[in-house]
Amino acid sequence: MKSIRTVLVTGGTGYIGSHTCFYLMEQGYKVIVIDSLVNSSVKSLERIKDILKKNNNRDLISLEFFEGSLNNKEFVDYVFHQALNKGNKIDAVIHFAGFKSVKESVQNPYLYWQNNVIGTINLVSVMNKYICNKIVFSSSATIYNANNIDLISEKNEIGPINPYGNTKRANEIFLSDIYKSDKQKWGVINLRYFNPIGAHPSGLIGESPKGIPNNIFPIIMNIAFEKKQSLEVFGKDWPTKDGTCIRDYIHITDLAKGHIKALEFMKKKDSTNLCINLGTGKGTSVLELIRIFEDTNKLKLNYNFSSRRDGDAPIVVADNSLAKKILNWVPEKSISEMCKDGWNWKLKNPNGY
Ligand code: WQD
Repeated sequence: MKSIRTVLVTGGTGYIGSHTCFYLMEQGYKVIVIDSLVNSSVKSLERIKDILKKNNNRDLISLEFFEGSLNNKEFVDYVFHQALNKGNKIDAVIHFAGFKSVKESVQNPYLYWQNNVIGTINLVSVMNKYICNKIVFSSSATIYNANNIDLISEKNEIGPINPYGNTKRANEIFLSDIYKSDKQKWGVINLRYFNPIGAHPSGLIGESPKGIPNNIFPIIMNIAFEKKQSLEVFGKDWPTKDGTCIRDYIHITDLAKGHIKALEFMKKKDSTNLCINLGTGKGTSVLELIRIFEDTNKLKLNYNFSSRRDGDAPIVVADNSLAKKILNWVPEKSISEMCKDGWNWKLKNPNGY
């Protein structure tokens, strides 16, 4: 049984990273964060400390931050080296750092392969040097060929259709090769996210995309807050119950807790190489999401129908039975709670951090 005390979180100031850092510390882990801050704000780390203090968990605050990119291998080595020298050896890594815009990845595949894949290769080679052989990787449902309309299991056909998805799949394949190079040593868990939305109920941390968001939930919140635009619904002629696309929206806190469960699993099992879906197993259409957001937050959202968006699939919903079975993880929160907590964050932080 390997002990895991200190966890390095790459991309730890970001949306999913910051929520995961909070739950790591709440569970008593020491946390070290690497982030380039190109897509996030270091303020999220201060806010995490504020929540712990508010919850009378000041003694659980153990958080070191290093600004830098995984593309700078010397920087990554320095972070591991200093942790070791301080008697705080990094025992495991949760790897979020990466660019995640499908649209941007199509326009600039070089940037995505350089940042997402070379960065991962640098990270894992330094991990190996410092005998840190447990990694939870932030993968994505976008790697699936989602053209069927059943629940998507981990055995579903893999078929990314954009450079972003290709880099996620490439990292999974790379990590599988690393595992196979020394099965006794390596623990690898790829968590494939469906659609994370919402925010921590405190409203102190949340999604704070730099620039114009591509994903529907931050767009809905901007439109609801500014009250001057209308949401474009991309297509109403899809083969679904109301003609709009169906997705598996999952509360960000449920998603973050899935990472803690993955670490707990690796404490018990030295050698592993798993791919696991993190979704609720329930589908919500765009029109349903609009209605639930309106009803929950007692407001009206203007929307209009436009043509389909390239690359969209009609239905992308998880079969999450493996996560329940292997990680003993069950998502708890409803779409309404996602809408309530997301809106609470937006009202308290209209311009993000
Ligand atoms: C959701 C639905 C749109 C915007 C993406 C990434 C995926 C993952 C989750 C990282 C779709 C519709 C959207 C709008 C709309 N991220 N929509 N009007 O495309 O399911 O997945 O985020 O891993 O990798 O691809 O999420 O939020 O962009 O879209 O009608 O203005 O909302 O058509 O059906 P998606 P999304």
